[in-house]
Amino acid sequence: MTAYSPLGSGDRPWASADEPRLLDDPKLGAIAEKYQKTAAQVVLRWQVQRGVVCVPKSVTPSRIQQNLQVCDFSLSEEDVRQVEALDRGERYIVPAVERDGQRVWRDAEHPHFPFHDAF
Ligand SMILES: NC(=O)c1ccc[n+]([C@@H]2O[C@H](COP(=O)([O-])OP(=O)(O)OC[C@H]3O[C@@H](n4cnc5c(N)ncnc54)[C@H](OP(=O)(O)O)[C@@H]3O)[C@@H](O)[C@H]2O)c1
Repeated sequence: MTAYSPLGSGDRPWASADEPRLLDDPKLGAIAEKYQKTAAQVVLRWQVQRGVVCVPKSVTPSRIQQNLQVCDFSLSEEDVRQVEALDRGERYIVPAVERDGQRVWRDAEHPHFPFHDAF
């Protein structure tokens, strides 16, 4: 299992201005402070700790370095549950596009589109 966009993909072109920004979540910030890590490191650690491979993207050398440093701490069971509790049911798997006046998921007509049950 691989997490693409594990940091919430804040810079994806189809992000809306009013959507919640994962890395700015105050609860995540509080957990990060407790471990003296960043919010990004906490969500990456959360994924790795449950056996999910992560593909984070950054054009910022210090962040690339930071994103590798997630193997020197462990989240407690309680903090794992706190991160899980951040799930608001938002799904950003593929962009929505306008077609014949309707908002549809890009690629939804593809014979192997795998996410029909995800929405
Ligand atoms: N094959 C597929 O279907 C597929 C689908 C989705 C994604 N992907 C790939 O997966 C990779 C990741 O996806 P993504 O770019 O959508 O999302 P992402 O990794 O969740 O988020 C990238 C964003 O997080 C910022 N960021 C990175 N490290 C950070 C840190 N330590 N602190 C704060 N902000 C940080 C980046 O900023 P800066 O770059 O400005 O530092 C960028 O704005 C990409 O290489 C993408 O191509 C592939």
